[in-house]
Amino acid sequence: MTYDSVVPEELGEPALRVTAVPEPGAVTIVVPTFNESANIRELLRGITESVPARLPCEVVFVDDSTDDTPEVIREAARDCPYPVTVLHRESPVGGLGGAVVEGMRAATSDWIVVMDGDLQHPPSLVPELVDAGERTHAGLVVASRYIRGGSRAGLAGGYRVAVSRGATWLTKTLFPRRLRGISDPMSGFFAIRRSAVTTDVLKPLGYKILLETAVRARPRRVTEVPFVFRPRFAGESKSTAREGVRFLRHLAGLRTASPVARMVVFGLIGATGFLPNLAALWALTAAGMHYLPAEIAANQLGVAWNFLLIEHLCFPGRRQYRRWWDRAGRFALLANADLVVRIPLIALLVSRFGMSVLGATALALVTTFVLRFVGTEALVYLPRKGGRAGDTTAVETGRHVGSRTARRSS
Ligand code: GDD
Ligand code: MN
Repeated sequence: MTYDSVVPEELGEPALRVTAVPEPGAVTIVVPTFNESANIRELLRGITESVPARLPCEVVFVDDSTDDTPEVIREAARDCPYPVTVLHRESPVGGLGGAVVEGMRAATSDWIVVMDGDLQHPPSLVPELVDAGERTHAGLVVASRYIRGGSRAGLAGGYRVAVSRGATWLTKTLFPRRLRGISDPMSGFFAIRRSAVTTDVLKPLGYKILLETAVRARPRRVTEVPFVFRPRFAGESKSTAREGVRFLRHLAGLRTASPVARMVVFGLIGATGFLPNLAALWALTAAGMHYLPAEIAANQLGVAWNFLLIEHLCFPGRRQYRRWWDRAGRFALLANADLVVRIPLIALLVSRFGMSVLGATALALVTTFVLRFVGTEALVYLPRKGGRAGDTTAVETGRHVGSRTARRSS
């Protein structure tokens, strides 16, 4: 791809080409779109105004629209002094995040800037993001609403503000190390060096593609630039309550990506099982049941509670290999085996190895816990040999379907 026809003759002002930084390289602007036809012209106008004079650019739209957005883009592209591409996807795999990854794969420039198509992200900031990256030798530059000079003025309503703040807090709490230096992990506006992009490790799920990138493929150096999040130019937000649930699943998936983290979450969930267990025991004995059968019944409630939480928080992306009753049955079997194995194990440790009762109990608890975790991983949530019919793990990684049409004009 060549850019030489872009500058400087058409602009008539060669001085504009000289930026404060050494040769900033070119930028591919990736814009995910879902029914944004009323915003396209204004967006491309904004980009034309502020980008090509400062650095060579191309724009890649990754579109999942059901309206005429792709046609509007092709039409508007005729007036653009840079290449404009539309990747229209027939199946919107991975949603917004999946679209962005698709666009990153198609990018050819040194830098990739990801921004929304509704003008909530000011196009005038694109060169600044790249400049900041070049100046500080960063691999990732985040446009942040939460540093001095930035604002979330365009966040519609108190409800959205509260949700956004809560999500930011939760996310920063869950990933204190990975997100150090990133004040706005929820931002959808950032620049990343193409050499720092490793799309293979990304498993985008919904809106938070910056979070996905920062956690799974964090570039070594990260810097931030403030920006004012503006109101939408036209149309409505595509974010829904369902997207919120998807976000929580995304967080759980990221947090439990490593086996050690999974084991910690598994243990924490196990500890919370005391609550329903004791509550049921109390209710059943109060209703007149003998305490021994009540113990057994209450324990099953604790198992069910643990199963539900573990399904959603520990193995959110690994439920597809077995049917739910198969998983529940195996899980219950392991949980009950745990009780059956522990007592003889304690007896063995005390009588054979002369351990103290307390020490033996602690060791047995840890041992059966680890065994139960490993068993749950291997027997409940690992892909089966041969696999269940219709199984696929590729569902959330995204694969481009559809046409790629490049248009360039002038
Ligand atoms: N291709 C594609 N597929 N694009 C999508 C999809 C999808 O399924 N869903 C949304 N988009 C596009 C929209 O067309 C828009 O260009 C951009 O993604 C952002 O969508 P909005 O619907 O405008 O989202 P928002 O304003 O609520 O959320 C924005 O702000 C958040 C921070 O408050 C996004 O930038 C989020 O990424 C950001 O976290
Ligand atoms: Mn928006």
